[in-house]
Amino acid sequence: NLLDVIIENSVDVDGFGACEGTLACSTCHLIFKQTDFEQLPSPPTDEELDMLDLAFDLHETSRLGCQVI
Ligand code: FES
Repeated sequence: NLLDVIIENSVDVDGFGACEGTLACSTCHLIFKQTDFEQLPSPPTDEELDMLDLAFDLHETSRLGCQVI
């Protein structure tokens, strides 16, 4: 599950989800392994991509955690 992914990737979860999933922050930014990224149930919306652009250390496999839970 997603928590395993977070632990596996050693993401710093301090302040995770500051906006409670309303796409108003990027504290839930996650960088997935390619294999996990491909398993995600839905592609990012334009709103998610806009917010991801503001995220620190953006990767090809970046998503906002609140949008993939
Ligand atoms: Fe703020 Fe995900 S919790 S964008």
